[in-house]
Amino acid sequence: MKKTTLLYSFVLLLVFTLHQTIIAQQPMQLTVQPTKPLAPIQSTMWGIFFEDINFAADGGLYAELVKNRSFEFPMPMMGWKEIEEKGNTSSTLIVNHGKENTANLRYASISINNQSPVYGLSNEGFRGMGIYAGKQYNFSVVAKNEAGAAVKIKVQLVNASGKIIGETVLSNFTSDWKKYTAVITTTDSAQKGKLNLLFEGNGTIDIDVVSLFPANTFKNRPNGLREDLAQKLADLKPGFVRFPGGCIVEGRDLTNRYQWKTTVGNVDDRKLIMNRWNVEFKQKSAPDYFQSFGLGFYEYFQLADDIGAEPLPILNCGMACQYNSAEVVAIDALQPYIQDALDLIEFANGPVTTSWGKLRADMGHPAPFNLKFLGVGNEQWEAQYFDRYKIFEKAILAKYPNIKIVSGSGPYSNGEYFDMAWKELKQLSPSLIDEHYYKPPKWFLDNANRYDKYDRNGPKVFAGEYAAHSKDNNNSEGRNNWESAIAEAAFMTGLERNADVVNMASYAPLLAHVEAWQWRPDLIWFDNLRSIGTPNYYVQKLFSTNRGTHVIPVLKNGEVVAGKDSVYVTAAIDKNSNEVILKMVNISGASIPLTLNLENTVVNKQDVKAMLLQSANKEAFNSLDKPAEVVPVEKIISVKNNKVAVVLNPSSLIVMRIACKKL
Ligand code: AHR
Repeated sequence: MKKTTLLYSFVLLLVFTLHQTIIAQQPMQLTVQPTKPLAPIQSTMWGIFFEDINFAADGGLYAELVKNRSFEFPMPMMGWKEIEEKGNTSSTLIVNHGKENTANLRYASISINNQSPVYGLSNEGFRGMGIYAGKQYNFSVVAKNEAGAAVKIKVQLVNASGKIIGETVLSNFTSDWKKYTAVITTTDSAQKGKLNLLFEGNGTIDIDVVSLFPANTFKNRPNGLREDLAQKLADLKPGFVRFPGGCIVEGRDLTNRYQWKTTVGNVDDRKLIMNRWNVEFKQKSAPDYFQSFGLGFYEYFQLADDIGAEPLPILNCGMACQYNSAEVVAIDALQPYIQDALDLIEFANGPVTTSWGKLRADMGHPAPFNLKFLGVGNEQWEAQYFDRYKIFEKAILAKYPNIKIVSGSGPYSNGEYFDMAWKELKQLSPSLIDEHYYKPPKWFLDNANRYDKYDRNGPKVFAGEYAAHSKDNNNSEGRNNWESAIAEAAFMTGLERNADVVNMASYAPLLAHVEAWQWRPDLIWFDNLRSIGTPNYYVQKLFSTNRGTHVIPVLKNGEVVAGKDSVYVTAAIDKNSNEVILKMVNISGASIPLTLNLENTVVNKQDVKAMLLQSANKEAFNSLDKPAEVVPVEKIISVKNNKVAVVLNPSSLIVMRIACKKL
């Protein structure tokens, strides 16, 4: 190449680069219109979805530390081990008392021989028991002594190496079944503690419902919830709690379906069933995963009440999981399923003079739970769903016309079954249609305008289960990386912008034990003592704690800001606090300056505190050992003459609230 040509090319490149830099440095101009509210944002906009998967209930949120406390697992000694010294002649027999119509069939009968060396039973908990030092634990056991027997039970909490970290003794058992209780104060902590029951004396003692709870549960409810996990849910200030699933509502077959009536009343009488995630994935089988239903429908309602969220129970619609048995109940045998729905509304809302309302009152909550929403079915598709759904809908609305029914569009985000669902359901009267999508991050980025095109007059959308699935990796918590979280944030700007159509949204799944998960990513990870929020959790939290009351326009050249030039922005006002709330996402690797012009608005302050969530590393994630790799930090942003001048950091989410004079 000639020298002159080379020089010419160089100059051209320089001019081009300079030009690009100047353009890049020009702030993107956005217009925000706080005085033109588009639609109310429902108080239910951002909620949570709880399913007993990944040991989320037993071994997780439900604070019971004893696994298989009533010996009702199919292998009755699962979770239990005999403690025996050489020469022992004492023994345990599992007895079925043979009574019909009872949930709690079995108990352990221990014959103790005084002469024998130490004999006992040890419970391993759920991947160990998490025990904190200097705390109180409530132990209880239902027991009876054989007449004439003189038996003591030494109750010990031990750490992984067998050191005793808490102890008490129970004695004076009588020959009829009674509950015995004791409080144990711990001297040390244990990540993988155990509960040992050592039997001393002579004769036979029968034991059942062996239970150990931390004295401090969330809101100190008896039969309550693990404090740190429930607090993390409360911190999200969710608008609703969808429960109890998910696929566990459907069951692998109909006998394995979730039946709410077996989960209420006396805790000891709730009938245990296999948790479907026990066997769902061969590579992640969990043979000791059962549903004790200690955390049952009453406790779910109580949780929703305690955290100020609307309860959204989902009921089986007469169909088992279509990925498993796909069994359906005959249409002419659907009535008991429908009766379950009607009775559930009575349980939640009925006066204490009704039979189900009375049960609620007897359980401790005479005031109604004020149920407004009810889900019929989870991920169902094709005619067998619509045929059943419409019978439910007719019966429920005939008796309770104000209940908002949530139906579902199935497991697919689009395509034949999805389209069919919307077409069929639109001819009926669901208040909301539940859509699910587990997709790669790119799908979320590309679909931030998904709801811009939805029919404004049809049923409302419930984005009931969603999560961006980035590439698999070897760390339990590692799939909840920043790449997935920022993609969800970008997508969620589209949910908020379409608040007139989207009335509810929840990430899924919610909780996962690092040693006992079947599915990931998940919003919150925990072990027996610790729990952490993922980057995805902080995205949810920034959205839900900055909801606003009305969505307002934010435009670039008259168009919504939904990913063009890597930027996603949504804006809302809070009419109660007179604030403009901005949520801004930059998915690019470069800083992007923005100027947002707040039209017809008088701003109170010049410097505004914003929350910034960012990472330069797409793979960054929070773990139990490093919980703060991606967490929100404060950033001050200047607002001058109603102009918000903000530089969006590379790969970041910024949420800010701007106090204004009356909006
Ligand atoms: O969230 C995990 C599972 O995903 C849910 O049980 C189901 O509804 C969906 O397929």
